[in-house]
Amino acid sequence: MQDGTGTEHHINDVISVETQGPVGLICINNPPVNAASHAVRSGLWQAVELLAGNKTIRVIGLYGHGRTFVAGADIREFGKPPQDPWLPDLCNFLEECETPILCVLHGTTLGGGLEIALSCHARIALPGTKIGLPEVTLGILPGAGGTQRAPRLAGVKAALDLIVSGKPIPAEEALGCHLIDRILDGDPRQVALQGAYAVLAGDLPHKRTGSLKVTPDPAAISAMREHLKKTQPLLFSPHRCVDAIEASTSEMTEGLGQERHLFNACMESPQRAGLIHAFFAERAVSKIPERHALPRPLETIGVIGGGTMGSGIATAALLAGFSVSLTERDETGLSRGVETIAQNLEGAVKRGKISDTDRQSLLSGKLMASVGLEPLKTSDLIIEAAFEDMAVKQAIFSELDGIAKPGAILATNTSYLDINKIAASTSRPGDVIGLHFFSPAHIMRLMEVVVAQETSPDAVATGFKLAKNLGKIAVRSGVCDGFIGNRIMTFYKKAADYMMLDGADPAQIDKALTGYGFAMGPYQVADLAGLDISWAANRRRAATRPPEERYVSVADRLCEVGMFGRKTGKGFYIYNDGHPHPNPVALSFLAEERGVAGLKGRPFSDEDIVNRFVTAMILEAARVLDEGIALRPIDIDAVFLFGYGFPRFRGGPMHTADQIGAPELVRRIETYALEDPYYWQVPKLLHVMAENGSSFEDRNREAL
Ligand code: 3HC
Repeated sequence: MQDGTGTEHHINDVISVETQGPVGLICINNPPVNAASHAVRSGLWQAVELLAGNKTIRVIGLYGHGRTFVAGADIREFGKPPQDPWLPDLCNFLEECETPILCVLHGTTLGGGLEIALSCHARIALPGTKIGLPEVTLGILPGAGGTQRAPRLAGVKAALDLIVSGKPIPAEEALGCHLIDRILDGDPRQVALQGAYAVLAGDLPHKRTGSLKVTPDPAAISAMREHLKKTQPLLFSPHRCVDAIEASTSEMTEGLGQERHLFNACMESPQRAGLIHAFFAERAVSKIPERHALPRPLETIGVIGGGTMGSGIATAALLAGFSVSLTERDETGLSRGVETIAQNLEGAVKRGKISDTDRQSLLSGKLMASVGLEPLKTSDLIIEAAFEDMAVKQAIFSELDGIAKPGAILATNTSYLDINKIAASTSRPGDVIGLHFFSPAHIMRLMEVVVAQETSPDAVATGFKLAKNLGKIAVRSGVCDGFIGNRIMTFYKKAADYMMLDGADPAQIDKALTGYGFAMGPYQVADLAGLDISWAANRRRAATRPPEERYVSVADRLCEVGMFGRKTGKGFYIYNDGHPHPNPVALSFLAEERGVAGLKGRPFSDEDIVNRFVTAMILEAARVLDEGIALRPIDIDAVFLFGYGFPRFRGGPMHTADQIGAPELVRRIETYALEDPYYWQVPKLLHVMAENGSSFEDRNREAL
């Protein structure tokens, strides 16, 4: 931090100052991401005060140590009592400073970090810097002057794009819209020094952002409002971002006042808590007991099965740079698999993920396709995605046992089956693991890493490493029928079916749940996944289904007449013009089934539908947690947020459970149990929580 020619002084643990002749340098060193914690804010204030009071210092250079300049306010402080100085006050203080301050941006200069930079008098970014105001993704808005200073530098339209999308932009784009003044290569301290001398020499102009005027752009404001009404009607903060940017045409103090008012409204919204919980969920899931085990080397991935799932997994692995060996039982299956991979890669080109040249070289250079398992003998990790049948899987694993090299990980993509039994068909159960991908596997972010009784810790660590390489979010699950996600889904899907039988039509159920924020309703999901998939599972379970359990067979009957959902154009809905319309055949089956059960069909309000559905989800999730299938409540939240379209702004089912409260959940379940005491049983854990007043968040805190 110092080259020996000046003097260095530590203000506190995270802020130090250094003087180099007429230049004062301030370094922020608060790993991992230099978040603007209380110590950073107070230290920075003192450092600026110290240097501004020193008459020999004529310019201040501010930079960050480590991988990034400040990546934002310290999110962990949100919801706690605020501590002076606040970030908005600090930003105003920086802007008011008589000594010009040059800020050096590097890494991911985001949120409050960019707001600090915008309050300085000149900005230089290192090449490769990502610059953004992602607050909207956390349910808030830039609350330290970002909504006022960004439009002053970049104009209303560019500020709207930056703030409402929350997407970071590259340094070049930030330079193009005047958010920064220059791009310079070097290390942050050296660039700060160089930039400071440029300011002194008059080569780098400096100004107070707050003194600039904003040209009103009502057309851009109303276009964004219209866009948000259509695309994000349920979200709170994007609309408030627009309101705050609109206020930037006023005087700075008035605009800042508006921003504060709108920021506080966002902070108080439950969406803020939900979105921040989702942010931490994405990161918490990697904190597993096996995280210190050394992952095994991974270069070549074998995939068994060229169906939708196998091809999707192979595509994901190719896109992540692995060499992939795809195998099938026969040439027909193999060419279908290769064709699907080629189509998936074309889709990736269309989405701008890869170039057409990349697509060709992946297909010709990285993909090997063959019949039979023999070519998998060199694979580091083999993922079986064959037919969902225990005998088929056991036969494959037993054959693999004789082929795979020592140390290879043998993974199954089963959605429901007992991995202990699959592992037992090999002589190396320590190498066997479940890697449960979600369809389409090259797009969906979730992957359940299913740990069987004898799976070794380094196999688990390798599963997590693979997920990271594939850009996926891995969640650790124990073995049970359906693991975390499908087990809970199987349960709450029944709640939807019972409501359907009792009087709510599929379209009403779907509408109520999408109105709550789910990406799709359960019948839209069923049609998309294919009704034939659950038909097979329903037949498998029929023999063991308890007589007390209600059973709704509308989906099975649709399958019997060849209506499998979207793939056949008809299911719960008809898709003849690309849009879903209720299928009269499904409705007539439903009417018949209601008649047989002697039910007239009673009305359900949308609120009742949502309450029953979400309560069912929480009920089974509490059991999954209590049985130790999921490590922590936050793991269950991650599964539903990243694999089942649970509304992100609601933070996941366990976070929602805490908002509802265990006593109310118990009350609801006991009320529903009056109609169906077999299905609606209060899980032990919810009883305990209702009695001792604890929450799922308490359990997260204890475990993390
Ligand atoms: N506050 C507190 N902790 C943070 C943080 C923040 N703003 N940003 C990241 N962290 C933590 C993460 O939780 C993680 O902790 P862990 O190791 O204990 O799990 C650690 O820093 C490293 O983060 P990542 O694993 O995400 O590291 P990456 O290198 O993959 O990503 C990043 C770095 C791009 C900075 C990413 O962490 C990120 O996007 N952070 C959030 C940025 C953000 O949203 N900033 C705005 C904050 S709100 C704000 O500024 C309000 C203001 O307007 C008033």
